[in-house]
Amino acid sequence: DTEEHLESRPPVVTIMGHVDHGKTSLLDAIRKANVVSGEAGGITQHIGAYQVTSPLGGKVTFIDTPGHAAFTAMRARGAKVTDIVVLVVAADDGVMPQTIEAINHARAAKVPLIVAINKIDKPDAKPERVRSELLQYEVQVESLGGDTLEVEVSAKAQTNLDKLLELITLQSEVLDLKANPNRDAEGTVIEAKLDRGRGPVATVLVQRGTLRVGDIVVAGAEMGRVRALIDDKGANVASAGPSFPVEVLGFSGTPEAGDRLAVVENEARAREITDYRQRQKREKAAARSATVRGSLEQMMSQAKTAGRKEFPLIIKGDVSGSIEAITSSLEKLGTDEVQARIIHSGAGGVNESDVTLAETAGAAIIAFNVRANKEARDAADRAGIEIRYYNIIYDLVDDVKAAMGGLLA
Ligand code: GTP
Ligand code: NA
Ligand code: MG
Repeated sequence: DTEEHLESRPPVVTIMGHVDHGKTSLLDAIRKANVVSGEAGGITQHIGAYQVTSPLGGKVTFIDTPGHAAFTAMRARGAKVTDIVVLVVAADDGVMPQTIEAINHARAAKVPLIVAINKIDKPDAKPERVRSELLQYEVQVESLGGDTLEVEVSAKAQTNLDKLLELITLQSEVLDLKANPNRDAEGTVIEAKLDRGRGPVATVLVQRGTLRVGDIVVAGAEMGRVRALIDDKGANVASAGPSFPVEVLGFSGTPEAGDRLAVVENEARAREITDYRQRQKREKAAARSATVRGSLEQMMSQAKTAGRKEFPLIIKGDVSGSIEAITSSLEKLGTDEVQARIIHSGAGGVNESDVTLAETAGAAIIAFNVRANKEARDAADRAGIEIRYYNIIYDLVDDVKAAMGGLLA
């Protein structure tokens, strides 16, 4: 897009920080304060992203991320969605491990930080200590002579929420964020699910151009014709421009978080692109499954040598329903001689503690419809543990069954 086509767009902001430092409370407080101050629509948030109005004018888009892992996973897939990170640090707790992680994630993504020192209402709040602790990690706030914007806030007492929005607007003016709204849309899928009634539903952040009902879209290996666009207030909209988050209905399959979305000229072109990507996906899955089978067999032969007739497994899955289905299928495979033993299961992505557990217990890790975060992948590489990914329960059970058969042979 040439300079003349570019127009200012709202900043896209992610909130990060240590556990319980008040990220969700702050997002809630900003959203509610904004609704109370006249923002159209209801209080209920319908999607994992929303827009509010800055006191300085203009909009700000917040992405309600589930944490650093999601941020990094998206970045690993080449999806740069965040313009600004708000680093929340609780004034009574100070800089903690995940604060440092967030600083490193933002730095690696080359995204500017705004420091929000939260819980300033607490009697034991020590904002000065937070500022000096941040210095150790090369974050120098303005009041200490640096150039990192900072604000003391309280999500609970609703203190300085407008000030935070103002700083975000100021920072975004420095970044001079622009996009051409008058072109076919491009964006990123920030979450996607299969809804019983509505079919595949993707929450998309539009980054360039304008997405319209009726557009033919491609996201990852999936395509569709946009049947409806739903905004953060749950209202149907006809179009969505740059930095606008919307739910997109009309996909024929469910895309993945981090997938790039693009509008294409017609269905034939969409089919051509997605056929190719589907084929690539299948080939990758087949290659992976061959490796998995090989390594499961290897693991079983080691177990056999050790005289062990148990097959220790860690199961991570997207929802508890699928984990239950997998667990009960695997338990049925057991015989008097060999038994799958699930030493840990849970909903969510594979994390570093799963890998540590697998290493200690000599277990295999099975990931169903979930991924492993960067820390987990690094730890697994170091420990020589393979994380096995599946999206079809039948394939998963079949592989484990084959491996257990190998143990008896
Ligand atoms: P995780 O998502 O679990 O990492 O936590 P979080 O960072 O989203 O923190 P959350 O908003 O869940 O808040 C954690 C606790 O701190 C809750 O009990 C909040 O009520 C409390 N809290 C959050 N903000 C404030 C604040 O400004 N002042 C006080 N006093 N308490 C706060
Ligand atoms: Na919390
Ligand atoms: Mg939270």
